[in-house]
Amino acid sequence: MANINFGGVVEEVITSEEFSLEKAKDVLKDETVAVLGYGVQGPGQALNMRDNGINVIVGQRDNSKSWDRAKADGFVPGKTLLPIEEAANKGTVVQFLLSDAGQVATWPNIKKCLNEGNALYFSHGFSIVYKDQTSIVPPENVDVILVAPKGSGRTVRTNFLDGSGINSSFAIHQDFTGRAKERALALGIAIGSGYLFQTTFKNEVFSDLTGERGVLMGCLAGVMEAQYNVLRKHGHTPSEAFNETVEELTQSLIRLVAQNGMDWMFSNCSTTAQRGALDWAPKFRDAVVPLFDDLYERVVSGIETKRVLEANSTPDYREKLQKELDVIKNSEMWQAGAAVRALRPENR
Ligand SMILES: NC(=O)c1ccc[n+]([C@@H]2O[C@H](COP(=O)([O-])OP(=O)(O)OC[C@H]3O[C@@H](n4cnc5c(N)ncnc54)[C@H](OP(=O)(O)O)[C@@H]3O)[C@@H](O)[C@H]2O)c1
Repeated sequence: MANINFGGVVEEVITSEEFSLEKAKDVLKDETVAVLGYGVQGPGQALNMRDNGINVIVGQRDNSKSWDRAKADGFVPGKTLLPIEEAANKGTVVQFLLSDAGQVATWPNIKKCLNEGNALYFSHGFSIVYKDQTSIVPPENVDVILVAPKGSGRTVRTNFLDGSGINSSFAIHQDFTGRAKERALALGIAIGSGYLFQTTFKNEVFSDLTGERGVLMGCLAGVMEAQYNVLRKHGHTPSEAFNETVEELTQSLIRLVAQNGMDWMFSNCSTTAQRGALDWAPKFRDAVVPLFDDLYERVVSGIETKRVLEANSTPDYREKLQKELDVIKNSEMWQAGAAVRALRPENR
């Protein structure tokens, strides 16, 4: 445990130096970790744990692309790749990594598979925090823990393979065995976390739902589109509008912000850009505060959850979603983006 000063606020974090992989393997040596779901998080976490020498099995419904993918990744049908409930029965740690709507649909059967002393593991606070809508209330005789990688499941794997790791939060909802924390930390290290910081199920889901609707995706996509449309309205070409809005951001600036911070970025651009950006940042900030307040309130009240569960629980949700995604894909802006990306020297 290290005390780190985050801009004046001291927080405890656990790094992979303090909680080594050897220690994690020791904590998990008698456990069978059943990863339920082989969508986005499932593969990343299952493969990293397997490579780290943890006893991992995968639970996935068969006759599905995800089953085939798990098989292609070396999980063996009947041995380490099993139907969901069979895997849940065998696991002493049950990692519930179906989609959040899938967790709601399968919970009555999964609940029956949990034995006293098992650990039920989530990568999102969603199912537990919104129990009024999900009806997911674990039995009292199991540990309920969370490790939430702060990034896409794909990065969980690619960062592991390139040796860098990903940051994760962890939380304990229920400690039946007295081992809940060491189990959570061991699993966090085993899935490839570089460091872990503690949270609660509530804070994890409130910040996560806000972040993905906000700056990480919803807000980002919205402001990109707004700027692109304004440039186009005033006669700029698609390539100019796209370069000035997205390409320069992703190929240059955001990489520098990742390395050095926005404070550094302000100090390391032309004085013309600097003056303008310093003047306009507060205007944009103040313009979106009401939207962010509204968003956070809708997250806390569960309105966002209701929308997610309703939309993702219909049998034809994938088709409907695809139509919506196709509109974006076929829009001028993102078609222009495809052309711009193809022109990058490494893609020519
Ligand atoms: N995506 C991320 O990067 C990310 C990041 C942090 C945390 N998380 C959390 O990690 C968990 C897993 O998320 P994910 O994005 O990996 O999920 P996902 O890709 O949407 O998960 C799909 C998995 O759930 C299965 N599934 C869906 N509905 C089902 C049903 N009714 N019955 C049985 N199986 C069903 C799918 O099987 P089929 O393929 O057969 O449909 C597939 O294995 C969630 O709690 C999520 O919030 C995700």
